[in-house]
Amino acid sequence: MPPTSTLRDPSFKRSLTLFRAFMKEQADPEHTYTLLARDAADQVEKYGSLAGRTVVDVGGGAGYFTEEFRRRGAQAYLFEPDAGELGKEPPAGSVLADGYLLPLADGVADVAFSSNVLEHVDDPATFLSEMVRVTRPGGLIYVSFTNWYSPWGGHEWAPWHYLGADRAVARYRRRTGKQAKHTLGENLFAVHVGPTLRQVRARADVRVLSARSRYWPFLAETVPKVPVLREFATWNLLLLLRRCP
Ligand SMILES: C[S@@+](CC[C@H](N)C(=O)[O-])C[C@H]1O[C@@H](n2cnc3c(N)ncnc32)[C@H](O)[C@@H]1O
Repeated sequence: MPPTSTLRDPSFKRSLTLFRAFMKEQADPEHTYTLLARDAADQVEKYGSLAGRTVVDVGGGAGYFTEEFRRRGAQAYLFEPDAGELGKEPPAGSVLADGYLLPLADGVADVAFSSNVLEHVDDPATFLSEMVRVTRPGGLIYVSFTNWYSPWGGHEWAPWHYLGADRAVARYRRRTGKQAKHTLGENLFAVHVGPTLRQVRARADVRVLSARSRYWPFLAETVPKVPVLREFATWNLLLLLRRCP
């Protein structure tokens, strides 16, 4: 049996467990990302087993998700543009590549997967189009991102981004004595829930199977339906799309 999470999704227990893991992310990234990868693989497997599937993990960082997909029997490949993010021991066969221009033929993937990458690209629509291109008709596309007005929208300088990015970054530097990893407009972009939903719904080449808050313990599909509220409360939008023939 492949190791699967025992946490029901959505549920308070799952959300609390993930939240606690996030709190320890700096001290124990292994624990946090192993848990998150397991959780994401469970979400993918609600739409079919990963065993024997070809999975493309775009912007997969150090490869925790790719490794989890492989554990479940998938042929999973990591595509990551930043060698620093790949780390010292990336999964075998990892490819240094940009999500805008994947070195893949059309329709090779059963599952195109991207976790928390969309807010790090300046042209999310093009990034998404490339994920759609490499997915076979009938295949699944998993895209999740932290939207700008989420309490975590400013990443390491959150929640002070609500007062403006410049102020938040300056505060971070003052408080920690460190340079922030993210700079708005360089490697972090203000991506919003409403416009992203409208964009994917307008596409003829995908069907939206689910648009939900990735971490909410309840009403996960309801929150992203409510204009304005969704920008602050969704936290992280998860889109599951079916590639149309
Ligand atoms: C917050 S990390 C997410 C890593 C991993 N997917 C996760 O969920 O833990 C964002 C990742 O997006 C990658 N990234 C940024 N721009 C990208 C692009 N144009 N194409 C693919 N990945 C990109 C970064 O290098 C980084 O690894």
